[in-house]
Amino acid sequence: MTIIRGATTIASDCKAEIQASVKELLDGIFSANALQKSEIKGFLFSLTSDIHSYHPAKAARECGYDYAPLFAAVEPDIDGGLALCIRLMLFTDLESERDVKHIYQKGAKTLRKDISEILNIALDGPAGSGKSTVAKILAKDYNILYLDTGAMYRACGLKALRMGIDPKDGEKIAGILPELNVKVEYRDGKQHTLLDGEDVSLAIRENSVSMAASSISAHHAVRVKMVEMQREIAKSMSCVLDGRDIGTAVLPNAKFKFFITADSRVRAKRRFEELKARGENVDFETLHAEIVKRDKQDSEREFSPLMCADDAVVVDTSDLGIEEVVAKIKGFIQAEI
Ligand code: DC
Repeated sequence: MTIIRGATTIASDCKAEIQASVKELLDGIFSANALQKSEIKGFLFSLTSDIHSYHPAKAARECGYDYAPLFAAVEPDIDGGLALCIRLMLFTDLESERDVKHIYQKGAKTLRKDISEILNIALDGPAGSGKSTVAKILAKDYNILYLDTGAMYRACGLKALRMGIDPKDGEKIAGILPELNVKVEYRDGKQHTLLDGEDVSLAIRENSVSMAASSISAHHAVRVKMVEMQREIAKSMSCVLDGRDIGTAVLPNAKFKFFITADSRVRAKRRFEELKARGENVDFETLHAEIVKRDKQDSEREFSPLMCADDAVVVDTSDLGIEEVVAKIKGFIQAEI
């Protein structure tokens, strides 16, 4: 008995997606392994507990894979496991496992790092567009890393503020560059941003740091240093990166590029709620004015300004809920991988 394995993911829990994905997975396994009907002894699907809309065994039967017993089981939830994932064990009477090809499609490619290419997803857009929320969900669902590049510029801005240096002062910033020690570390899949060895993940979220980050990020030398680190990380593992210049400058060859945007008042409202929940007292109109100013500064700077890459998909989130945005983006990704 030889078992051939396969897995795929769906963008959303709906019957049509399950039917299409099960067919694609089975067709892929059968054609890659040149399988004959008579060689198949059974199909065992397992699915993550977030799939309810349709039974994969039924979907398999409907597309012609009905000549051996079909079973399906629900998996227990695993921390950090893939979401909306359908796995398959195909029991065959092939003699040797040696030449068997296991097939991992769509998001499930990340299950098999040995056979999957590195997947980089670039999310760019202005402050408050929702890109970090989307990035976190995508990273979790595809079980890949989330690299928040804004956090790195925030740490640079914090350094300038702590040293009493104007983040706009190019000469002074160039002077502190050799000792600008920003690093990112991952613990339990979560990014921690370190400044001179200190975990500043919380401190960099204060509103006062936002403008400093925007100002310091305009200096070419600062960008060169941060971009080098970002490229190193993206080269070594699959990740979702969010920022302003990921699709245009950091990873111009990223397979997936999205530009997430929203009306400035909607974005200001989101930031307002976020800061309020964290106990920061800010006036809405002041915050809105700051966001508009930061957009202008980020978009008009000379080096790698905030810009939509020619080949990025634009997603306006002004009137969309987060689930709708994620579903839209996943729809594009799943259609391609
Ligand atoms: O995404 P954020 O608000 O945390 O980013 C803070 C600032 O950092 C932003 O105003 C511009 C800058 N930034 C950048 O220039 N390039 C990036 N890739 C990410 C952020």
